[in-house]
Amino acid sequence: MQIRRVGEDDWALIRDVRLRALSEDPGVFGSSIQREQMFKESHWRMRARTVSTWIAVDATGVGRGIVSMLLEPGSPVDDRHVVGLWVAPEVRRQGIGWRLLDAARTGAVDEDARTLSLWVVDDNHAAGDLYVRAGFARTGERHELQREPARIEERYELTLR
Ligand SMILES: CC(C)(COP(=O)(O)OP(=O)(O)OC[C@H]1O[C@@H](n2cnc3c(N)ncnc32)[C@H](O)[C@@H]1OP(=O)(O)O)[C@@H](O)C(=O)NCCC(=O)NCCS
Repeated sequence: MQIRRVGEDDWALIRDVRLRALSEDPGVFGSSIQREQMFKESHWRMRARTVSTWIAVDATGVGRGIVSMLLEPGSPVDDRHVVGLWVAPEVRRQGIGWRLLDAARTGAVDEDARTLSLWVVDDNHAAGDLYVRAGFARTGERHELQREPARIEERYELTLR
């Protein structure tokens, strides 16, 4: 499995992996398949231009994992924010999530970021374990999910320098 930094020309690959992530795991992302399947090519191209993205591509060229990194509105300019980490169920527990997260971490270091942050829902133990093992710490900053107020998410942060 190759971890590839993708760009605008890869918009269709990004779309396919992202839509599969939203359909397989609808409860863990701040968006929905109903919303994103309406996106036009121009939306995907714009997202690919404005958000750094890495995809785990298998030997046949199919995307089996994805992660993105961006500057979160309202966050310090030296923070980079991880969003949309997902690995296809058939290839989980093989270290791909770890490698994708590490690609985002390296991307943040290359941009001279001081911290890397992300949000995790309390009941997402797989992701929480992965982040803690990767050195992220809980910040105590917590809020209810907009779409599902019974569920709480917390901001985690990794200090890079
Ligand atoms: C979270 C996710 C990305 C992990 O991907 P993965 O490729 O299976 O993760 P890895 O194989 O790299 O696992 C690395 C470590 O993370 C932890 N981990 C991963 N999955 C876990 C699970 N189901 N339960 C407990 N710990 C888990 C373990 O510490 C694991 O190390 P180990 O396998 O040596 O025990 C994947 O389960 C996923 O896509 N989940 C649905 C989407 C999601 O929740 N995204 C995160 C949103 S915040």
